[in-house]
Amino acid sequence: MSIQDQVAEMQQRALGELETASDLVALDEWRLKYLGKKGELTGFLRSMGSLPAEERPVVGQVVNAARKLLEEADGLRQTRLQAIALDQRLAADRVDVTLPGRPVETGRVHIITRTMREIESAFKAMGFQVAEGPEVELDFYNFEQLNMPPGHPARSMHDTFYFSESVVLRTHTSPNQIRVMEKQKPPIRVIVPGKCYRSEATDATHDFMFYQVEGLAVDRNVTLADLRGTLTDFARRLFGAERKVRFRCDYFPYVEPGVDLSIDCMLCGGKGCRVCKYSGWLEILGAGMVHPQVLRNVDIDSEKYSGFAFGMGPSRIALLKYGIDDIRQFFRNDLRFLEQFA
Ligand code: DAH
Repeated sequence: MSIQDQVAEMQQRALGELETASDLVALDEWRLKYLGKKGELTGFLRSMGSLPAEERPVVGQVVNAARKLLEEADGLRQTRLQAIALDQRLAADRVDVTLPGRPVETGRVHIITRTMREIESAFKAMGFQVAEGPEVELDFYNFEQLNMPPGHPARSMHDTFYFSESVVLRTHTSPNQIRVMEKQKPPIRVIVPGKCYRSEATDATHDFMFYQVEGLAVDRNVTLADLRGTLTDFARRLFGAERKVRFRCDYFPYVEPGVDLSIDCMLCGGKGCRVCKYSGWLEILGAGMVHPQVLRNVDIDSEKYSGFAFGMGPSRIALLKYGIDDIRQFFRNDLRFLEQFA
């Protein structure tokens, strides 16, 4: 068989095999076999040395024509296989945009935080500012400046965590009355929210940590009528415009007179139920006219100035508002409980 025929045979075979190269790897192998440095085409060129000189150009032409043809066929096949490979990858990677999404859990504001914010905005609307004070407090502020000197019987109502004789975890937010008046002269209208601590055996209505919101207003001619008006307005903003309020005498060493404020029970409409202990009334805060001695303690002239103060527990307020029966639920972090207040 002449070299020309051999080249023609190889070309036929190569084209046939090219059709069956089903992916890019197979195509690479094919290219090595026919077009590579050690491939069959190169083999023909090498063998030309043994041909008579006049035949060489003819064979050279035939081999080069075959190379051109095979290279073209290779290029076409490569384009085709690349397209197929791309199609396959796209099919495998396809995202079905019509599938329903996976729901993402959304957090929500803790029920106590929400209650605090409601309390804050009620007082902000009446011109009060919001301040803060330390949780680790001096006995001096927590008790002494509030008319509870060492040995005062009212101290025993506060089961206090002591760091030392003079440093405590604040048992209420009232020390901030003193801290505010030390820094600021009247007129003062401020509320102070924050955490308080008491060394209590916990039960359904007591926890060793709880929040309070303290309030203080000091100016010329502030009277019990101002206290009444402000706190009545507050109670109605928080619990509904139709609420009845009731003020009664109470005792706190740092106010004179001292009062507590109750609202008619919104769960039973005042008829009496479990939550209001069948009294028809819910106590929501303590308050009073700032004791003249407390004003003198911070060098405010009690002849010129007077004020009222109040303190409340947001846990208790949330408890009443949502009819919750155990105050400890608030900080157990049981999502089944917390999620109810979406
Ligand atoms: N500090 C009191 C308590 O922890 C609440 C309180 C009562 C605050 C009367 C006041 C007040 O400012 O005037 O129970």
